[in-house]
Amino acid sequence: MRRTAEPYKIKAVEPLTMLNRGEREEALKRAGYNTFLLDSEDVYIDLLTDSGTNAMSDKQWGALMMGDEAYAGSKSWYKLERAVQDLFGYDYVIPTHQGRGAENLLSQMKIQPGDYIPGNMYFTTTRAHQEMNGGTFVDVIIDEAHDPSAELDFKGNVDLVKLEELIDEVGADKIPYVCVAVTVNMAGGQPVSLANLKETYTLCQEHGIDVMFDATRCVENAYFIQEREEGQQNRPIKDIVRDMFKFSDGCTMSGKKDPLVNIGGFLAMNDFELYTRARELVVVYEGMPSYGGMAGRDMEAMAQGMYESIDDAYIEHRIKQVRYLGEQLMEAGVPVVRPIGGHAVYLDAKAFLSHLDREMFPSQSLAAALYLDSGVRSMERGIVSAGRNKETCEHNVPKLEMVRLTIPRRVYTNSHMDVVADSVINLYNKREQIKGLSMDYEPPTLRFFNARFSPL
Ligand code: F0G
Repeated sequence: MRRTAEPYKIKAVEPLTMLNRGEREEALKRAGYNTFLLDSEDVYIDLLTDSGTNAMSDKQWGALMMGDEAYAGSKSWYKLERAVQDLFGYDYVIPTHQGRGAENLLSQMKIQPGDYIPGNMYFTTTRAHQEMNGGTFVDVIIDEAHDPSAELDFKGNVDLVKLEELIDEVGADKIPYVCVAVTVNMAGGQPVSLANLKETYTLCQEHGIDVMFDATRCVENAYFIQEREEGQQNRPIKDIVRDMFKFSDGCTMSGKKDPLVNIGGFLAMNDFELYTRARELVVVYEGMPSYGGMAGRDMEAMAQGMYESIDDAYIEHRIKQVRYLGEQLMEAGVPVVRPIGGHAVYLDAKAFLSHLDREMFPSQSLAAALYLDSGVRSMERGIVSAGRNKETCEHNVPKLEMVRLTIPRRVYTNSHMDVVADSVINLYNKREQIKGLSMDYEPPTLRFFNARFSPL
């Protein structure tokens, strides 16, 4: 397996320390066997998330000093607005403190009680906002996305038959918009093809339904298009990104992922009337339409980060670093979600710990075992994250039971990927010894954040 060299050199370093095994045991106990509850100083390599954990460049750190902290009409805001218009092609932009701030505004403005919001698989905060506004999320991703071993180039694609059936069943007037995530986080960071984006947009236009992108990892999606879709090779990532967004009416964006900053986000659209309403609503929840919860310096850093994110060398290394980890695991026979996606390697915990049944929380158990083995922090994305059914109060049992090894951007080297691979392979070779967990404390909403467990 070849490593792709980092297309940057390191100017500032942050020392890493590793607790010994006894200390890790204590830390895990204190955290109730939930990796969300570990203190970051007790973690050696932190793969909990790629959100807000990016390393900024020298140019971004320099840009911080240029932040215009005016309450209204900040220069830094105009810079960010121009970057979004330039890269994505939208007419209007509303800043928010992070992605879910934009989701809140969009859901409040567009969703009426009784509406349906189709999407290519759910994301936790996105669905929560849809439901809080009386909407029902409907999964219209292709079936293969729910099968960890199905090898498809574009496993995040919308199933147009499912979408059309929903439109026929409930009527277009009950569907305020279709939410298309590029890439699909919960399916393993899987991309959507340009052809599928176009078909989805065309179908929606025929029915007068808007398409809103969840653009959170859109540059990673563009890389897969460049790599895999016919006729897209040798085209600059910037052009592919621009083409993707032609097939949408607006988007929500978490600045904490592809835009290479630690906080920030925005909502963007082409509809002036929607923009006017958003300008009013943003003041209530986020701040003035010229900062929306961000400091002037945050907006400077994000404008710069967005341009860095579409650099071809950067994005190639980013995707290939994640793949480098994934390929080591696949070679050792470790069950992972295939193909390897954009931001993370997902362990298939159901296959990894096939001796544990779902009520013993295999993903949670595996995430805890990995921390104990090497101080690597990962995230449960299985039955705990899926919560309980509102009516029956039974666990929602998702098809995918996964542990996410999420790679922050520009933070760790390929050598760190080797350490992670060694530890996962070591665990896989003694997987029968890993025991399940029981849940001692279960919060009523988004339980995965604060739930506490103990070993069976
Ligand atoms: N959409 C997707 C696909 C996401 O992955 C996230 C965040 C959001 C929206 C919300 O953005 O955090 O800025 O409010 N995902 C993080 C993760 C939390 O770890 O996957 P946010």
